[in-house]
Amino acid sequence: MNYIGIDLGTSAVKLLLVDGEGKILNAVSREYPLSFPHPGWSEQAPADWWDAVTQGLAPLLDGHDAAQIAGIGVGGQMHGLVALDENDNVLRPAILWNDGRTADETDWLNQNIGREKLSELTANIAFAGFTAPKLLWMKKHEPELFDRIAKIMLPKDYIVYQLTGVHACDYSDASGMLLLDVAHRRWSREMLDVCGVSEAQMPRLFESYEVVGAVKPEIARSLGLPEGVKVVAGAGDNAAAAVGTGTVGDGACNISLGTSGTIFISSERFGVDPNNALHSFAHADGTYHLMGCMLSAASCNKWFCDDILKSRDYAQEQREITDERLGNNRVFFLPYLMGERSPINDTDARAMFIGMSMDSTRTDMVQSVLEGVAFAIRDSFEVAKSLGVRIERSKLCGGGAKSPLWRRIMANVLNLPLDIPQTEEGPGYGAAMLAMVGCGAYGSVKACADALVRTTETVQPEPALVERYERAYRKFQKTYPAVKELFRELQKGGTDHE
Ligand code: XUL
Repeated sequence: MNYIGIDLGTSAVKLLLVDGEGKILNAVSREYPLSFPHPGWSEQAPADWWDAVTQGLAPLLDGHDAAQIAGIGVGGQMHGLVALDENDNVLRPAILWNDGRTADETDWLNQNIGREKLSELTANIAFAGFTAPKLLWMKKHEPELFDRIAKIMLPKDYIVYQLTGVHACDYSDASGMLLLDVAHRRWSREMLDVCGVSEAQMPRLFESYEVVGAVKPEIARSLGLPEGVKVVAGAGDNAAAAVGTGTVGDGACNISLGTSGTIFISSERFGVDPNNALHSFAHADGTYHLMGCMLSAASCNKWFCDDILKSRDYAQEQREITDERLGNNRVFFLPYLMGERSPINDTDARAMFIGMSMDSTRTDMVQSVLEGVAFAIRDSFEVAKSLGVRIERSKLCGGGAKSPLWRRIMANVLNLPLDIPQTEEGPGYGAAMLAMVGCGAYGSVKACADALVRTTETVQPEPALVERYERAYRKFQKTYPAVKELFRELQKGGTDHE
């Protein structure tokens, strides 16, 4: 039998057709727009997601026997607020994970409910991108729309709903709402009360690999799918990517260089970072994980190349970054284009180049962008190490991992061997694997990962470069604290917040 894995990303949806042995038979991608109605805001229309999925399915199945499809899994961008009215119509564009409008609501939650209480109820504190502060924002700024909310869900749940008609959510994605009691895998009544919503407005909770229903007959007909295709609950994209890269079991680690940058540490036991700098979420295999998330990772390189340098040839831009330049760059880049989440939790932070002189070149700047992202990932890695978590190696996935140079910079900045999985499509592949487990092809997520996930290459840290990058990281660490107050000043009274 075959399976479809869908990765509902921030810039595009990626669909994979995978056979029962894990071979990718076809892959299709469809882009959709991302809108920034104000600086620091970030929205998307759920209808665009669904259109992209339906438009991608025909070419995905082209030349393949659709009757062989047994199941579908969806992984997707986390935290986005999708609000539906009583007829299941979308009430407003989804407010995404990298939207920074909720600075006031986030502060209110952390100060008035209190970080300790939030952590006790949900295992996490409030971050601007999380869903609960978005509900509070809607309640204050769009009260008529807020009153009409009949169902709340996350982006990938909207696709599962369109396919099956079921309002479902899985534990890994629900963890990022600040409405889930992560330790006990149930909605937190107290947090629903704080946000003015009821349990009836929430989707039903499932494990990621559980079947929520079958594709509705009329949808199956219009999409060319056979009747009875099962749809599993799916997972947040990071948990799905962790499954897709085989990051299951205690201490397994995955780093993703996508639009966001994440470090994901799988754990069989529930645990909380006492400072809440790392998120404590459910994993898609029924266990837990700790995660640091930076808001702009590969997107920093995309922004700098596409928008500033007007070049889409990323490899060409990196060609002149020779060995002797590595670890010796005097230009530094702070990658906070959308503010930052982990570990600094600062919606006012912005990106910055620093250290340029008359002889600084375009190449130095491109290099500083790649390095700045690696240093910022290291910030979260350091938090994990300070908690006593032992990480001996990590997987590396996401669009940024396609660059051999960036892989090398990452391995040396982190001083960590990085395993490159055969399938770079982490979340889509993980979503297809969850469908396999839901359809009974494998007994557990772990068994599926052991059977299917392969590493093609390991990028080893190089001692001389590790030393150079260690010195560079110490300098990088001083930049943000030096300008933190200035960022606050620059945002204050500006046009960023309404
Ligand atoms: C994780 C996060 C991002 C999005 C990106 O907390 O916000 O990684 O899931 O799609």
